Amino acid sequence: MNKSQIPAAQKDVLSLLLDDHKKAKKLFKEFEAEKSEAAKESIALEVCTELTVHTTIEEEIFYPFLREQNPEAFGDLLNEALVEHASAKELISQIRGMSMKDELYEAKVTVLGEYIAHHVKEEEEELFPKVIAKKIELREILASMTERKKELLNSPVAA
Ligand SMILES: [Fe+2]
Ligand SMILES: [Fe+2]
Repeated sequence: MNKSQIPAAQKDVLSLLLDDHKKAKKLFKEFEAEKSEAAKESIALEVCTELTVHTTIEEEIFYPFLREQNPEAFGDLLNEALVEHASAKELISQIRGMSMKDELYEAKVTVLGEYIAHHVKEEEEELFPKVIAKKIELREILASMTERKKELLNSPVAA
């Protein structure tokens, strides 16, 4: 999804979410390319933090707001998204409880990357275009999303 084509009413909020998606994808790539075990583990923990913060602001603010605006248009997509978040969070909690010494560590991070790639694709190709098509005014939730993100990054939830 090209940011320059997003109308003003959706631009800032969708850009924030798109930037998060990009960052997560980049971290998964770095994890794959990295050779050192210690560096791999620290990249994996960073991606867990980023994804926890991202899914939390979506679940607390973005998704409920869309559902409230138009339950018929967004209900099914958001339910699927929540199920996908739950699978990702389950893997995140397993990864956080493991170390690179564990035989399955690398596989868990790889599978998390695959789940996220699938989920991000659905958001960017189905959910976000629908938000634009339905002309949902997102500017009113921008400040709360930005603030909540900052707060979460500084809280133990993120770690
Ligand atoms: Fe997302
Ligand atoms: Fe999501």
